[in-house]
Amino acid sequence: MSSEPTVQAPVEGIPPAHRLPMTLPLLMEKKRLGEPIVMVTAYDFPSARAAEAAGVDLVLVGDSAATTVLGYSATTPVELADMLVLARAVRRGLRTPLLIGDLPFGSYEISDEQAITTALRMVKEAGCEAVKLEGGGEASASRARAIVGAGIPVMGHVGLTPQTSTALGGWKAQGRTAAAASRIASEALALQDAGCFALVFEAIPSAVSDKLMPLVEIPVIGIGAGPATDGQVLVFHDLLGIRDGLGPRFVKRYANLQQEMNSGVAAFAEDVRSRRYPGPEHSYKIDPNELAELQALLRS
Ligand code: KIV
Repeated sequence: MSSEPTVQAPVEGIPPAHRLPMTLPLLMEKKRLGEPIVMVTAYDFPSARAAEAAGVDLVLVGDSAATTVLGYSATTPVELADMLVLARAVRRGLRTPLLIGDLPFGSYEISDEQAITTALRMVKEAGCEAVKLEGGGEASASRARAIVGAGIPVMGHVGLTPQTSTALGGWKAQGRTAAAASRIASEALALQDAGCFALVFEAIPSAVSDKLMPLVEIPVIGIGAGPATDGQVLVFHDLLGIRDGLGPRFVKRYANLQQEMNSGVAAFAEDVRSRRYPGPEHSYKIDPNELAELQALLRS
């Protein structure tokens, strides 16, 4: 195990925080007061800095990293080792939001012991303050209970659970029949009963969220689950348009950074090819006497 320190030391370029770090009691208080909770994913130092600067409440190092930054077509291939590297980078850029690390596929399903071991690594090696796992069936609830029992807060995730999307019939909205929606309700309650501090509802009809919300006592963060949930989360790359295509129906795009990046790199390439870059303002100078001496040295 790495022994990299995980302290939230002053970070160059990040102004001192003018707000208290998010805690589990503060989160519950936000739910009680009906104050919307803001969560975003982050995968590296710059995305963490953006989340910090925006003053979001929760940051998730999501296993969506598999598709957003690692180029896989699904979340299943991402490894725990990858998640630890990404989470450490996010930790270095964050002060106040609560940092949640996603447990990747294959890192918690085998046993409660495996789940605790993985969660401990996310905390000890990456500085995560909580972990998230997908699914609310018997096994997931047992894993959540075990991790909570080890002293690590757990966020649950029901509805569309991308790690098991093949079993769910693909990347599509869940809970669109009474039976399916009632299964999601049972899973949410099982995770709450297991001690989860919060839940994610992903890709379920808004009207189903409306029915489920009064049943759940812990904060619920929605993604494609309508406006009734206690908060909203979006994937960093989706909301900033760092991707090709529009993404799922529930995404609202606030910038088009992929286009910005493409044109920035294309402009650099054009400048190099046309010798417009580097200009004098990008070049270092040397005292003319030193230069003359160099010339003499090179001749000798
Ligand atoms: O991995 C992820 O980004 C997530 C969010 C969509 C909640 O699980």
